[in-house]
Amino acid sequence: MTTLVIGARGAVGRHVVDGLLAAGTPVRASVRDLAKADFAPGVDVVQADLTQPDTLPAALDGVDQVFLYAEPSGAADFGKAALVAGVRRLVLLSSGSVLVPWATANPITVEHRTTEELLAGSGPELVPIRPLVLANNARNWASSIRSERVVRLVHPGSVSAPIHERDIAEVALAALSGADPREVSALLTGAEPLTLRDQVRLIAAAVGEPIAVEEIDETRAREMFGVGEPGTVEAILDFVRRGTGEGGWFRTGTAERVLGRSPVPFAAWARDHVAEFR
Ligand SMILES: NC(=O)c1ccc[n+]([C@@H]2O[C@H](COP(=O)([O-])OP(=O)(O)OC[C@H]3O[C@@H](n4cnc5c(N)ncnc54)[C@H](OP(=O)(O)O)[C@@H]3O)[C@@H](O)[C@H]2O)c1
Repeated sequence: MTTLVIGARGAVGRHVVDGLLAAGTPVRASVRDLAKADFAPGVDVVQADLTQPDTLPAALDGVDQVFLYAEPSGAADFGKAALVAGVRRLVLLSSGSVLVPWATANPITVEHRTTEELLAGSGPELVPIRPLVLANNARNWASSIRSERVVRLVHPGSVSAPIHERDIAEVALAALSGADPREVSALLTGAEPLTLRDQVRLIAAAVGEPIAVEEIDETRAREMFGVGEPGTVEAILDFVRRGTGEGGWFRTGTAERVLGRSPVPFAAWARDHVAEFR
């Protein structure tokens, strides 16, 4: 009854591994590069890449359930390999954007919806986990906070309810334990609606120093995104722009229903990550 965690070094994946270890469940951790494996002694580590089907049979050998990240280009082959290996359940870190009516065509949604569709038709039960906005997105501000105590924001009044990676992992762990898929696959958010400016204020409180917000326009924001795929950059800008208006942001009770407690507040997320901002 081994659970394979593909992406075990990821922010969410790491907490999934820890949760399985704490529960005493046999866990296998996969990484694309074995040299980067840094797990607790005794963790069974394998090399696997969702885009390299030949790496999958060994990783899946004797595995009952898998937690994995969304990789549309490898999903069909992964589904076949999981079926052959006798895997019973796949818990996929997908995206809440697949449930947002106005986001159906954006490339982030398409990538996650395609992965869900390919895996859903592959044989094992698929349970997608669908967070909408990760608190970890604020790590993108770490460099300018560290060097200048500044965050440059487009639409600083944009609202979202970001969720801590630990809460996402706990919802995934509930799914791996057989929780009702209708509950764990619902739109997943944090508890507090916060503007981007609010998030900066809470990071500043954790750091113990003021952090300035410098508002930038969308043209400047596109330049700052730099090398990003243009469709993805526009999808992110669309999300942020819509967060300034009616119906443009979401807060759900999914985490509370599944976990039986409130989601971790953003202030606690900021304290957990304060070393990255100092
Ligand atoms: N940003 C948001 O607001 C948002 C919203 C909704 C959903 N999401 C989803 O959440 C994800 C980010 O989660 P996170 O913060 O936990 O990610 P993360 O810390 O960046 O970790 C990503 C993990 O995925 C693994 N991975 C990537 N490509 C792989 C491949 N081809 N084969 C095997 N493993 C692969 C990486 O493995 P290695 O350790 O081997 O490199 C890494 O461990 C996004 O990619 C998106 O799907 C994000």
